[in-house]
Amino acid sequence: MPAFKQSTVIGVIGAGAMGAGIAQVAAQAGYQVKLYDNREGVAQIAIDSMAKQLAKLVERKKFTAEQVQQTLARLEVADSLNDLAEAGLVVEAIVENIDVKKAIFDTLESVCSADCILASNTSSISITRLAAGMKHPERMVGMHFFNPAPIMKLVEVVSGLATDLKVAICLYETALSWGKKPVYAASTPGFIVNRVARPFYAESFRLRQEQVADCATLDALLKGAGGFRMGAFELTDMIGHDVNYAVTCSVFDAYYGDFRFQPSLIQKDLVDAGFLGRKTGQGFYCYQEGAEKPEAQIVSVSLSTDVSSIKCEVSEDVGHLAGLVERLSQAGVQVTQVSGLAKGYLKVGRALLALTDGRMACERAKDERLSELVLVDLALDYQSATHIALSRSAATSEGAFNDVVQCLDLLGIKVSEVVDSPALVVMRTVAMLANEAADAVLQGVATAEGVDTAMCFGVNYPKGPLAWADSIGVADVETVLHNLQQSYGEDRYRPSLLMRRIAMLEGSFHVK
Ligand code: NAI
Repeated sequence: MPAFKQSTVIGVIGAGAMGAGIAQVAAQAGYQVKLYDNREGVAQIAIDSMAKQLAKLVERKKFTAEQVQQTLARLEVADSLNDLAEAGLVVEAIVENIDVKKAIFDTLESVCSADCILASNTSSISITRLAAGMKHPERMVGMHFFNPAPIMKLVEVVSGLATDLKVAICLYETALSWGKKPVYAASTPGFIVNRVARPFYAESFRLRQEQVADCATLDALLKGAGGFRMGAFELTDMIGHDVNYAVTCSVFDAYYGDFRFQPSLIQKDLVDAGFLGRKTGQGFYCYQEGAEKPEAQIVSVSLSTDVSSIKCEVSEDVGHLAGLVERLSQAGVQVTQVSGLAKGYLKVGRALLALTDGRMACERAKDERLSELVLVDLALDYQSATHIALSRSAATSEGAFNDVVQCLDLLGIKVSEVVDSPALVVMRTVAMLANEAADAVLQGVATAEGVDTAMCFGVNYPKGPLAWADSIGVADVETVLHNLQQSYGEDRYRPSLLMRRIAMLEGSFHVK
């Protein structure tokens, strides 16, 4: 089934943050839009405020005045649901309440033609449940936009048990023609993004709870090494802890208390205290006037050693640290390949440096009888990373640790030393994101490509979690998860069956 023709009337119900944005997207794409809200005057207010926003974009030369005029001319207020009778597609974006939504769809079934597609922008209600009891449940589908809808590219096209594939295809093609990045998803709790993103918050919260580092340091590492636009603390302060905590609780409950989705006590504390983030002036950070944002803890460089004298010996296969080795040699550090070092190890001055494999440094040093062990965290790209976490075993000397810090300083990379903890910060986060993504694929929620697209375009991740796992090596990511599970003895870190299968086959999530 192709995309709707531009002559199709699109109905949008609910003129709040999402409905207004969806109406704007459809009107900008050339469709006639009828916007309905049950609070009198609200739909017109939404169109007026859209006009003001678009006028600003004309000033910034993003649109011509004519384009804006045409867009606004395509937007019309519907006075009642009856005004949506001629619509070919109706997108509902009202309050997140199943009974209220069901009542709307019930009315729409009697108002609209039998072939009108009925879509919901719900973030958390099952499309299968919404469609239950409808006369034509096969035309009910999720069309899940992200906030702000005119800017965020992702649209999850969510099929319930009864949704006709042709209906989903039509919405996919329509979203594509609206300039969006649609992905297909099966109606399961959290769909794709709200499920796969849970570990991004959960692992930072746990690291904080275990006092591995402070919020500012963890945020800075996720950005400077991980390439994420925001860290988990600043992001949840922005989203609002009431909202973020409620989503986590709803996903946790929906998966019958699976510990992978366990809510965080430190976030619950914030909610209990009314510290909801930016909107209340206090969350993990303080936003009161004059409050200073805390800075990340950076290891200061001690100049006890002449950097030019630090030698770097590397094993024949440095694995994922190849980018770091290249950067060291570009910076003039003497890098020599030696045969006596095990795979993945670097000797930097007095230190033995390795990428975390999910074991604590103390454990790894003991297991492999290593001295002067320093572990480095994962970076999205070691060539461009600006900040990185290191940890060490208690037996590692200050001098050996400083040799690594000085070398990284030479490369312009800031170092934060974090408490010796399994999988450090970025590796732990990425491994858990990839694990959740793998499970979503295993369970047929979406394809590997769909999950990665969703995470890149719905929450701006710098790389899809599965493509990231592919680039690290799926077997290595599985090892990290296995070691995390061993360390904690918790089911939360169990590797997905799909991850294990691909790791055993030495394969990848995406065809290379
Ligand atoms: P909102 O509170 O900003 O707007 C909801 C609008 O619906 C209000 O203007 C309200 O007057 C209207 N409304 C309520 N009951 C109605 C009814 N029976 N008939 C007609 N209009 C009615 O809410 P928001 O944030 O726009 O969310 C709407 C939907 O979109 C929810 O299902 C939410 O889960 C979903 N969503 C929200 C996102 C967000 O970031 N805010 C992101 C993606 C989805």
